[in-house]
Amino acid sequence: MGFCFGVKRALTLVERAAAQHQELRTLGAVVHNRQVVARLESLGVRPARSLDEVASGAVAVPSHGAPPEVFAEVESRGLQLVDATCPMVKAAQKQARQLADDGFQVAVFGDPGHSEVKGVVAWARGRAVVVSDDADLARLAPSRKLAVLSQTTQSLAAFQRLVTRIIEQKLATSSQIVVHNTICNATSERQLAALELARQVDAMVVIGGRDSANTRHLAELCGGVGVPTRQVEGEDELEAEWLADCRKVGVTAGASTPDWIIEKVLERIRSLAH
Ligand code: F3S
Repeated sequence: MGFCFGVKRALTLVERAAAQHQELRTLGAVVHNRQVVARLESLGVRPARSLDEVASGAVAVPSHGAPPEVFAEVESRGLQLVDATCPMVKAAQKQARQLADDGFQVAVFGDPGHSEVKGVVAWARGRAVVVSDDADLARLAPSRKLAVLSQTTQSLAAFQRLVTRIIEQKLATSSQIVVHNTICNATSERQLAALELARQVDAMVVIGGRDSANTRHLAELCGGVGVPTRQVEGEDELEAEWLADCRKVGVTAGASTPDWIIEKVLERIRSLAH
């Protein structure tokens, strides 16, 4: 549990850049965790909603990436670029572009409102659509060449179900259906470990930001095996009554949850043990 390599890398890049540049803004939250964002703000690094808010200095692209136009605009505005895009997200963006250039219709499995998904779609030069449920699948136009990718932090089981349905519904009108499993290792390893743990405990506590897609999926998966599950952003959200009848509590945390928050939650749980 806790920070994945993409988040660690993004924070190292941003902290290093903060020491080098007088003005550094991040394009949105650099990772989806409010405590991490608050810590960066204490170093003088504030999130900007758009490039219009960045008059000068340097701007960091977050771990979940950005559309290609953002990179062009950073350059045309004469800003310094700190690209903290996770390499796994970069790989998905490159695949989306390559597939689009090769004439594929690209279906991206994910949350249409999430910045990573919007970015991957934008890299596919208008040839990608987001597919998050059966209704989206029904709207997917028939295409001879169809490619399927996933948001890096989706649930592997849900992606597998979607791929099966795509093959069932679209094979008759396609000559090629190509699947790239772009779910990152950090996500799938955490999901498998959390599931294994959830099956052995009386309750699961999942620590992480409410905006964090991978944290939310961990909570959904644990809840899915029938174990009572709570997602908390910090120790103050953990009520004593909720764990009153538990003998064994499992804990996991999203890829953007810092160790110091995990430690505080563990301390709180230990303090409730009797
Ligand atoms: Fe990257 Fe996966 Fe972490 S996409 S930021 S390694 S959750």
